[in-house]
Amino acid sequence: QAPSASLAIQADRPGPKIDRRIFGQFAEHLGTGIYDGVWVGPKSKIPNTRGYRNDVVAALKELKVPVVRWPGGCFADEYHWREGIGPRNKRPVKINTNWGGVTEDNAFGTHEFMDFAEMIGAEAYISGNVGNGTPAEMAEWIEYITAPAGSLADLRAKNGRKQPWKLEWFGIGNELWGCGGNMRPEYAADVTKRYSTFIKVPAGTKTMRIASGASHNMWPWAEYNWTEVMMREAADQIDGTGVHYYTFPGGMETKGSATEFDEEAWARTIAKTIRMDEYITGHEKIMDKYDPQKKKIIAVDEWGAWHDPAPGSNPGFLQQQNTLRDAMVAALNINIFTRHAERVKLANIAQMINVLQAMILTDGPKMTLTPTYHVFEMYKPFQDAVLLPVDLKSSWYHKDQWAIRAVDATAARGVDGKTYVALVNVDPNQPASVTANLAGLTATRVSGRVLSAPTMQAHNTFDQPNAVRPAAFNGAQLSGGALNVTLPAKSVVVLTLE
Ligand code: AHR
Repeated sequence: QAPSASLAIQADRPGPKIDRRIFGQFAEHLGTGIYDGVWVGPKSKIPNTRGYRNDVVAALKELKVPVVRWPGGCFADEYHWREGIGPRNKRPVKINTNWGGVTEDNAFGTHEFMDFAEMIGAEAYISGNVGNGTPAEMAEWIEYITAPAGSLADLRAKNGRKQPWKLEWFGIGNELWGCGGNMRPEYAADVTKRYSTFIKVPAGTKTMRIASGASHNMWPWAEYNWTEVMMREAADQIDGTGVHYYTFPGGMETKGSATEFDEEAWARTIAKTIRMDEYITGHEKIMDKYDPQKKKIIAVDEWGAWHDPAPGSNPGFLQQQNTLRDAMVAALNINIFTRHAERVKLANIAQMINVLQAMILTDGPKMTLTPTYHVFEMYKPFQDAVLLPVDLKSSWYHKDQWAIRAVDATAARGVDGKTYVALVNVDPNQPASVTANLAGLTATRVSGRVLSAPTMQAHNTFDQPNAVRPAAFNGAQLSGGALNVTLPAKSVVVLTLE
């Protein structure tokens, strides 16, 4: 039976704002995520501005990246900020113990990151070193970044930046249950309170303090006790808590190839991805207990598909290709975040360039945009839009043991006043017919864009950069106050209603 769905879009019952920061990125010192991906240095033959790749910066600006998380990840809890300031040729060369054991010359430090964030118009989300750094080191880093005066501000000025930066977000360590220090939740909550006490920024400015979230929720298991303890013990000292959930298609050990997979793996990937909804709901319930007024946010500060490393690549670099399947993972997760807009105010896909589910892949001077990039680009109108609740009834897509709703949807009123509807048809074989009722909305015109490809495994390469890219969509019609759409098999569609 052909997939179908009916939607009631309740434009007359607008919901919360969809914070643009759910479209945030994560850039760790890992593999070629920073070095070669963002930073090539001012002397590189690759066209650059003060060391930043021009091609990458232009692509990220186009995406309107709202926030970037840096320098990790696991890297953060061993990072000493003083090693990344001052003349680059005097900075110490260290070993990146988490990722491949390669050398890290600290060429990309605080100034390079903050400058980069400013360049692409993003807010900065810095993860502090709680693992093997002291509260004093952390406090001095924050002072170095934000203070208008004093000897750390003087040092900053000497290093080229007189004006303080704005530091919108600060992570109190990363994965404190694991690479951040292998802590018990009770101990982590105490440590979080202690470090948080010393996050001090100039009067009139605000830095959001985000606690390290629970252990990787790993289907079919989730770690809610961490959030329970963190909220119970430390809620007063934080503005929100992290949640990390990756889609491991095959599990933690054998994750599976990014490009060579069958339909069962496609269905399994999607089924695991949409568990994000259940995990967020679970963490929300706990937060509601301790923060019924919903003042504390959830930051899904690591998410995305995690496949086996690309054949021939350094396994410590977490490099992987990105197919139409990853585009589905991106769209379904974003749809989930929009539906939890009341609590989920920040999310950072892992990771921005060349690592895990990347937006952009580079190799020397070459660059290509991934299907995931295109999803983020298509969803731009959802940034800071107002959620319009959707009642969705969909038929099921079945493959082996997996049963998934064939159609997923979200809707919003954009800052430009137009209505946007994002639809996903996860069925890789058949088009889906969708009928939408538009309560409280008079639209006379519908247009749209679609992302799809002939195969599930389709991806962009340096030689074929346009194998998967958005196209104009003509499969939607308005008639008698309703919207009728035929979604191609395995597609993401974003419609504009005016
Ligand atoms: O994104 C890669 C790694 O995954 C991060 O460094 C860590 O926080 C997580 O386990």
